[in-house]
Amino acid sequence: MQESQKEKIKVYANNKEIIASGTVKNALIASNIKLSKFPDFKSEEEIFMPCECGGCWACLALVNGHFTPVCITPLKEGMEIDTRTRRNEYPALRVVSGFGVHTVGGVGTPYSLKNMKGPVEVVGFTHGCNLRCPQCQNFPIALTSGGHLTEAYEASQILLGLKELHELDRITISGGESTLNRKWLIELIKAIKNQDEHVKIHVDTNGTILTPDYIDELVESGMTDIGIDLKSLDVSTYMNITGLGDDKLAQKFLETSWNAVKYIIDNYSSDIFLGIGIPYNKAIISKKEVKKMGEKIFKIKSDVQVCVLDYRPEFRRKDLIKPSISEMMDVKKLLNSTGLETVIVQTSSGHFGP
Ligand code: FES
Repeated sequence: MQESQKEKIKVYANNKEIIASGTVKNALIASNIKLSKFPDFKSEEEIFMPCECGGCWACLALVNGHFTPVCITPLKEGMEIDTRTRRNEYPALRVVSGFGVHTVGGVGTPYSLKNMKGPVEVVGFTHGCNLRCPQCQNFPIALTSGGHLTEAYEASQILLGLKELHELDRITISGGESTLNRKWLIELIKAIKNQDEHVKIHVDTNGTILTPDYIDELVESGMTDIGIDLKSLDVSTYMNITGLGDDKLAQKFLETSWNAVKYIIDNYSSDIFLGIGIPYNKAIISKKEVKKMGEKIFKIKSDVQVCVLDYRPEFRRKDLIKPSISEMMDVKKLLNSTGLETVIVQTSSGHFGP
């Protein structure tokens, strides 16, 4: 991001005079207000700032009396910033785009629905992501705010309208990272369920902030299906895949995503469909590590659906070579050899499954 306002000016953060330049974020840093990457708030003032690109609208504060995402809002002389508003008073807003239909579904779509001819679920893509994957397959959504700013109810209306239009029974919330704005996501799921109690609601996520209480709330609200990407086993691989430079944060995200899988299997196996995603390209993860992931997943549940995604050259990793079909079939055999029963591989010729 380019700083639009380079000159230092006087602003007020929680009534304290601050000299800063750039965005509201910089004034908050200068006034020692904590900006966190994980939503385990230690104080009322703290701001959760996961995406830093204006997509998730989780980093709201009152700026001159209006709620605004502090990560991208430029400072102006005399600006008054207040981060002490109770979080339940924040409006539930999120930038979304790409409303439409999926023809193959996502990681949390059951294999029986993949490779069908025609759409399998309605989808909306939430902007903003807390990872910085150099090979991101969806970077115009993951790293921008250039979509439609929606209230949860409005998004539910669009998704349900598309569901009727296409005569489908599944709605997917994908991204970017769909879970970053908890209030918006929970309100959206509740709004969908209130209007259609039978529709399946599939959350597609990297699992990085899915703590047990968040999972409980998603299930209570009406989520029926979830796809979680487990990107690696080792932190160093995870940092390489996700572009994260902070090893402690990477460890926290990686552990939280694995724990989320285990928690859902231990507590909601009979209520929720869970699919696990593993990205594969030999340049980003070794077959040995993929096998170890398979062994660990097998110990949690042998018949959980695991979908291996063939990562292609994209975004800042144009040097990648897309895995061939036979390479993907080798990865499938490797995972099946660990005892896993439901392994799918995504290839240039479609999905191959159990
Ligand atoms: S962190 Fe500011 S919009 Fe996502």
